[in-house]
Amino acid sequence: MKLNRRNLNIALASATLSSMLPGLVLAQDKKAPVLGFAQVGAESEWRTANTESIKSAAKASGVDLKFSDAQQKQENQIKAIRSYIAQKVDVIGFSPVVETGWDTVLMEAKAAGIPVVLTDRSVSVKDDSLYVTFMGSDFVEEGRKAGRWLVEKEKDNKGPVNIVELQGTVGSAPAIDRKKGFEEIIKSDPKFKIIRSQTGDFTRAKGKEVMEAFLKAEGKNINVLYAHNDDMAIGAIQAIEEAGMKPAQDIIIISVDGVKGAFEAMMAGKLNVTVECSPLLGPQLMSAVADIKAGKPLPKRILTKEGIFPMEVAKAEFPNRKY
Ligand code: AHR
Repeated sequence: MKLNRRNLNIALASATLSSMLPGLVLAQDKKAPVLGFAQVGAESEWRTANTESIKSAAKASGVDLKFSDAQQKQENQIKAIRSYIAQKVDVIGFSPVVETGWDTVLMEAKAAGIPVVLTDRSVSVKDDSLYVTFMGSDFVEEGRKAGRWLVEKEKDNKGPVNIVELQGTVGSAPAIDRKKGFEEIIKSDPKFKIIRSQTGDFTRAKGKEVMEAFLKAEGKNINVLYAHNDDMAIGAIQAIEEAGMKPAQDIIIISVDGVKGAFEAMMAGKLNVTVECSPLLGPQLMSAVADIKAGKPLPKRILTKEGIFPMEVAKAEFPNRKY
């Protein structure tokens, strides 16, 4: 071929392009992984901290996060998951509002080749290959911690010890497991009796409303309140005060989460103890996304380490609290 200005230009252009190509391929490989996350809702201080942890960790690790809030409704979460499947995201993450009813949508994700990571709450499915890993707390153990604390606190009391229980969202893993763990411990002594147990849906407003009904029905008969989360306990504290009683004195109050609001209540002498449940799952979730993208295997269960904080240590611990 005779070299003229035109084909010289073409040759130069294609040389430049091919020298750029490896970079282009690399840039394609390095495309931010896309994570579709279907959140439960915004029902509690805990959940707000959990959402914030996920959003900030995604930003820090360069994950392209698509986020949806299901407003505590399973059908909304299923819709969100289906839309992530349609969008062909790299990974789907979610914190299931309830334990059951996930088989079909998770099979759809599997058929589409999209790995699923469970955070905070688990699912009850026939085939556990429908998700890659479950990261979060041991809710049964949280219930046991609450129970052990009460057994120790009341060891010199001959009883009866009448307990009212504010359960979390009906059918949710934390509500089922925290009840189970607590009952497992207190059943060792028949002086402990759960005289009323009802859901407060993990919210302050419902916690207050249900506690008002408990107080109306049982009055001074109530010795202990066991709330499955801090928000319901905080709502119940208002109800107890409005009924002219002293929270944490007339009624012992035990709750779960360890949010700042609970520490403030303990420092004000209104809450006896909170069992820790960490919402700070964002960084772990993002590293799971990176591992999945890199083809690295993940353990089926990633457990969060947690403590228990009685009111006596609240003031000293408060400055260390991150949520
Ligand atoms: O699944 C975790 C629970 O959900 C938290 O204890 C509660 O506060 C939240 O809403």
